[in-house]
Amino acid sequence: MEKILEKNQEYVVEIIDQGYEGEGIAKINQIPIFIPNALKGEICKIVIVKVLTSYAYGKILEIVRNSKDRVESDCLTDKRCGGCDLRHISYARTLEMKREIVQNLVQKTLKQKVEVRTTIGMEHPMFYRNKAQYPFGIDPKGNPTIGIFAKRSHEIIPIQECKIQNEISQRIAKTTIEFCREKKLEIYNETSEEGILRHLVVRVGFTSNEVMCIFVVNEKNGTQKSNWSKYKEELYNQLETTYPEIKTIVENQNNKKTNVILGDRNQVIFGEGFIYDQLADFTFKISPMSFYQINPIQTVKLYIKAIEEAELKKDDIFCDLYCGIGTIGIFAAKHVKKVYGVEIVPEAIQDAKINAQINQIQNTEFMTGDVKDLFDQMIQKDHIKPTVVCVDPPRKGIDPTTIENIKQVEPNKVIYISCNPATMVRDLAMLEEKYLIKSITPVDMFPYTSHVECVTILELKRL
Ligand SMILES: C[S@@+](CC[C@H](N)C(=O)[O-])C[C@H]1O[C@@H](n2cnc3c(N)ncnc32)[C@H](O)[C@@H]1O
Repeated sequence: MEKILEKNQEYVVEIIDQGYEGEGIAKINQIPIFIPNALKGEICKIVIVKVLTSYAYGKILEIVRNSKDRVESDCLTDKRCGGCDLRHISYARTLEMKREIVQNLVQKTLKQKVEVRTTIGMEHPMFYRNKAQYPFGIDPKGNPTIGIFAKRSHEIIPIQECKIQNEISQRIAKTTIEFCREKKLEIYNETSEEGILRHLVVRVGFTSNEVMCIFVVNEKNGTQKSNWSKYKEELYNQLETTYPEIKTIVENQNNKKTNVILGDRNQVIFGEGFIYDQLADFTFKISPMSFYQINPIQTVKLYIKAIEEAELKKDDIFCDLYCGIGTIGIFAAKHVKKVYGVEIVPEAIQDAKINAQINQIQNTEFMTGDVKDLFDQMIQKDHIKPTVVCVDPPRKGIDPTTIENIKQVEPNKVIYISCNPATMVRDLAMLEEKYLIKSITPVDMFPYTSHVECVTILELKRL
């Protein structure tokens, strides 16, 4: 292939397909070329930037013919940031693309013929994220900076106006970094593992307006003589007085060399160490370590869709696997006889129990554990017989033991909520012998990014 395609060669190509991350795909002598930012139907002058065994990467030099779906990006850092990889495409087209991605996977993998439904989009797909995780760093002039990591790197793009992040988290980050610069606070260095400030995480209750700030710090080498120790009280006071929305500030200790943002230890500095938010008519307590869906507007649509389509019955036994702080189970509780929730993070289960109380729900039981073991125990040893199982796993999907357990216990309905259509379809393939796939609906939880969320409803085949 090296003889056919070489780095730095220029071509004019037609973009014949769209990849999963918004990249265009062209072919030269049947070899696929992946071209970031190119759109299906466009004619582009490109240069080959990398040649691999069976494919290559190209870069646009000029768009000779534009797609009607191309839009001018409204973001100052779009080209460098790894956040919105679909920002150059009209929102309506991104929704179609997400549906097509799922449809293609379904067609390739499943025996059943399923027509994936239209993606449920947002009316105003802006400023929708309720959680920001800003890394601290040092800019080329040697000053502290805060922002977002550039695409596929750990170079920090200083914070500007982000179109998908909520506005208050951006203002809090700007106040924080100005203070860090003025007081010369010690910023963590990933290579030397020295310095203190690693990340600022801001979580916002969209309905409640309550804000939680988490300062992730490295205390491996002690902090006693640092500027951080000397001035942090002043920083916290400044944030509290400038932003009355801040209900709590937490220091999280992370002394490990890792890309995982939060460490294991939290110290509450101000407030109660958690915030509340509302989804539809329900109130939820959210702690620093607990998962909470990042787009609350779409979360409500997703949960309502899942519950309506599952046609829950008053005598249903509902298992909410990977339940987080119990949100789906609590939405479902009034429609069913009993809800069991299983989640691996203990703090999330503590929140889930309190959330059931706050919402005056008495028919829930939340348990800490790995779904693989705990669901197994529930059905094999405790002889619980769920009639509806709802799964909402992380990106890697469901483990084989749990799939086998679902097949064995035969709930009438399975609700599969997924943030990764590839693993979802893999898992559906293992269930489809016993289950009819009634519907697959993408819900746009992450507008302008290539992430795709889906809800699938399965019904036990009556043989
Ligand atoms: C995509 S989130 C869904 C949470 C919740 N259903 C919601 O809508 O907010 C996945 C959850 O699964 C939990 N989790 C990950 N692996 C797990 C496992 N093996 N067993 C139990 N829970 C797990 C995570 O901590 C996280 O809370």
